[in-house]
Amino acid sequence: MSACRPAQPSPAPRPRRARTYAGTARNLGTLARVLRRGGLVAAPTETVYGLAANALDPAACEKIFVAKARPQTDPLIVHIDALADLARLAHVNAPALLLAQKFWPGPLTLVLPKTDLVPAIVSAGLPSVAVRQPSHPLFRRLIRLAGVPLAAPSANPFGYVSPTTAAHVQAGLGDKISHILDGGPCAVGLESTIVDLRDPARPRLLRPGAISRAQLEETLGQPVLAPRRRRQPAAAAQIAPGLLTRHYSPHTPVQLHPCFTPAAIARSGPTHAWVFLAKPTIRSRTAATNLFWLDSRGDLGRVAHRLFAVLRQLDHAGFARIHVELAPGHAGLADAINDRLRRAAAR
Ligand code: TXA
Ligand code: MG
Repeated sequence: MSACRPAQPSPAPRPRRARTYAGTARNLGTLARVLRRGGLVAAPTETVYGLAANALDPAACEKIFVAKARPQTDPLIVHIDALADLARLAHVNAPALLLAQKFWPGPLTLVLPKTDLVPAIVSAGLPSVAVRQPSHPLFRRLIRLAGVPLAAPSANPFGYVSPTTAAHVQAGLGDKISHILDGGPCAVGLESTIVDLRDPARPRLLRPGAISRAQLEETLGQPVLAPRRRRQPAAAAQIAPGLLTRHYSPHTPVQLHPCFTPAAIARSGPTHAWVFLAKPTIRSRTAATNLFWLDSRGDLGRVAHRLFAVLRQLDHAGFARIHVELAPGHAGLADAINDRLRRAAAR
């Protein structure tokens, strides 16, 4: 959205206390020491920024839940530096190995039966663990230097839009944490695809992401079940994750549309923001101060990359409502983008 113009100045920033570190060798050493000593570090992955702690240290992991105000019923993803580390954390099966070999390092999380090494706080008491080998070079170096797997949920207050820049982390958690590693904007921009492989005969997609269900099925040579759409009671550990229906939500109400009509835009007036996937060809009577687009050509990779940043920007711009156009179709990135949009719009 090169032309994304907030309608009003942003509100005054909150007090900031976290220190932001560039990804130098010296800083990475410092931050790895923080992690080894049981501290928290927010750091970039290729999907979104994560709030990391030593996954093998229950007291360190507890700090994640406190900083995010996240219920302990919501289990954490554990990040590893090498595929060889997977067997320490999880009981690996053949489809898991196939997927890991094909898509790791990358935006794919595997849910598998856990080993005793994984503390109960990480798995929310479940007998399973979610594991991912991220591809972001800084995050990988941080894991390697820390010498332990890192538990990391998205580095945002629970329920809010996930952060895709260090500034987003600062804005959301800057008064709750002390260390942020800045690796620039996240390339993918949406959280990882999660696959449940507890039963290798019945793989199930738990959360759509940049790696599509079709890609998973092609690699596995077997069907991957669709996510269960059942609502889960918030108090129960999230077996088919997670992801409460309302999640990733701006404070401003979000309304979704299969496509926008000029009449609806004209009727709404300038207090409503309209977010197109591609540069719009229609014009509104409000001199277009309320029209935005995610990518000039509507390329879904670019749309995913910018979606959370744009939702945050508009959330702070004082609009009464944010209207967003759904991505066309049901495959691949469209599925992941629309999943996040539906959660953002859920009330
Ligand atoms: O891209 C990502 O996955 C990012 C980056 C930081 O890696 N992380 C992320 O974490 O999105 P989080 O906590 O926001 O979402 C992880 C989801 C949770 O909603 C949780 O319910 C599910 O994964 N999950 C974690 N462990 C699980 C388990 N043992 N069984 C089922 N679901 C699990
Ligand atoms: Mg999250």
